[in-house]
Amino acid sequence: MLFSRNDPFQPLISHSPGLESLIRSAQIAAAADITILIQGETGVGKELLAQSIHRASPRASKPMITVNCAALNDQLIESQLFGHVKGAFTGAHTDSVGYIEAADNGCLFLDEIGELSARGQAALLRFLESGECQKTGSNETRYIDTRVIAATHRDLQQMVSRGEFRQDLFYRLNVVTLRLPALRERRRDIALLFTHFCQRYAASQNKQPPRADKSALKRLQQHDWPGNVRELRNVCARLVTLHDSGAIISGQTISHELAMQSTTIDSSLFELPPEGIRLEQLEQDLLQQALNRADGNKSQAARLLGITRDAFLYRLKKHKL
Ligand SMILES: Nc1ncnc2c1ncn2[C@@H]1O[C@H](COP(=O)(O)OP(=O)(O)OP(=O)(O)O)[C@@H](O)[C@H]1O
Ligand SMILES: [Mg+2]
Repeated sequence: MLFSRNDPFQPLISHSPGLESLIRSAQIAAAADITILIQGETGVGKELLAQSIHRASPRASKPMITVNCAALNDQLIESQLFGHVKGAFTGAHTDSVGYIEAADNGCLFLDEIGELSARGQAALLRFLESGECQKTGSNETRYIDTRVIAATHRDLQQMVSRGEFRQDLFYRLNVVTLRLPALRERRRDIALLFTHFCQRYAASQNKQPPRADKSALKRLQQHDWPGNVRELRNVCARLVTLHDSGAIISGQTISHELAMQSTTIDSSLFELPPEGIRLEQLEQDLLQQALNRADGNKSQAARLLGITRDAFLYRLKKHKL
């Protein structure tokens, strides 16, 4: 999609019909000043989209306040959201402005809304229904005029049906939902984003960008990109940093980089969801995915999972694969 230089949506790079039509919906919703819920996998561009929506909105000259709902302290959640007055509780040495009040006339970006605790959900719902903000320890009520944008990688509808997310809050947030497609659902953006990030990192390191040969492009296209655009960006950053200016990159190099990325993802990003997982099923799926990705080569598949070939063969037998 081609944007003019100062277009708020210009940072969102895409040539795929799915994302382009989503951007058009976002442009309309931005102007309408209504609540927006952004859904999509990790690294898919939810925050980038929220920033673009705010910059395209009538409130663009006012701040967008980002609240990472996963990082709120449940004991202090009302005070973090609404603020408190001096002396409201031990340690409240001064008056404090909460996130909601800070977003008055501007925009409140509730990131990772699916991680908001039951207490946080109740507090937020109260505000959304009344527009009222009362600091902890104060009787004074202020009306806050803010535009809410929420984002999550979780399936909120499913969380509602499991009783993990309040239905009334879900309806408040789910006025316009924008679902960002995963990178694997818009494969034609892969080469475009690869070129973009390589150019950007190369420029910052005073290098010529690396160039992907045919096998490298094929490998990039085949990959499932569980970490989406962020994963692709990280691959580009490493390629630019670790290779000579203008280096030609092969498919093998890409495979190596992707394997490196997946080890970092495994060790730092995998988090057990509250509803738990089915370990046996997950193991079977991973074995199958590794086999597919390695085109049936068992040694390579084992390497992708960080285990020995023998351990891999043992597990294949166990799952009758
Ligand atoms: N369409 C795009 N064009 C250019 N850059 C993009 C695009 N989508 C995402 N990015 C970049 O990818 C990175 C991840 O994006 P972002 O932080 O918005 O993802 P997210 O969906 O909020 O991820 P998470 O769920 O992990 O919080 C950022 O550096 C962002 O600038
Ligand atoms: Mg994010």
